[in-house]
Amino acid sequence: MTTALIVAMTKSRVIGKGNSMPWHLPDDLKLFKAKTSGHIIAMGRKTYESIGRPLPNRENFVISRSAESIEGCRVFHSAAECIEAAKDYDKKLFFIGGGQIYAEAVSFVDEMHISYVKNEFDGDTYFPDFDLNEWEVAETVDHEDFTYVRYIRKSG
Ligand SMILES: NC(=O)c1ccc[n+]([C@@H]2O[C@H](COP(=O)([O-])OP(=O)(O)OC[C@H]3O[C@@H](n4cnc5c(N)ncnc54)[C@H](OP(=O)(O)O)[C@@H]3O)[C@@H](O)[C@H]2O)c1
Repeated sequence: MTTALIVAMTKSRVIGKGNSMPWHLPDDLKLFKAKTSGHIIAMGRKTYESIGRPLPNRENFVISRSAESIEGCRVFHSAAECIEAAKDYDKKLFFIGGGQIYAEAVSFVDEMHISYVKNEFDGDTYFPDFDLNEWEVAETVDHEDFTYVRYIRKSG
């Protein structure tokens, strides 16, 4: 089973503001949909509340210490529990945020799908600092407002 994270961030690693996204980038939303459809998405409880509903055509996992159940989703108490549960599916497991979840996932996922937003935005939530030397660039696609890069963790 492959584990991945997918994120859109500015060059200064801003990902959110006021429990929302600081930008509206329809092409990035399309990319997110194309990459994650048919797979599992795992998110922190705050990101789930920001989206407000389970996303269609995907298994929705929500990570929370307190929530017991959320309609249309499976609730887990840690990222590790999500990984255990994902083994029962023949699907990729995408951690889709937010900041608290990325802070953990960046240390163990097999691949990262990062959209680097070209404009700078103010924010209150950040992607963690990470060491690019640990990652191999597998793909780069330039879009008008962002550049998409797919990284694979170097082995060894
Ligand atoms: N730019 C992007 O690609 C992107 C993607 C996703 C989200 N975002 C943005 O990110 C922001 C939200 O991020 P955030 O960091 O505030 O919140 P978050 O990571 O979405 O959710 C935090 C919540 O997840 C649960 N949680 C976190 N770590 C846990 C652990 N180890 N075990 C069990 N539960 C755990 C807790 O839920 P409980 O409090 O219920 O226990 C915690 O309050 C928003 O602004 C959103 O728009 C941006």
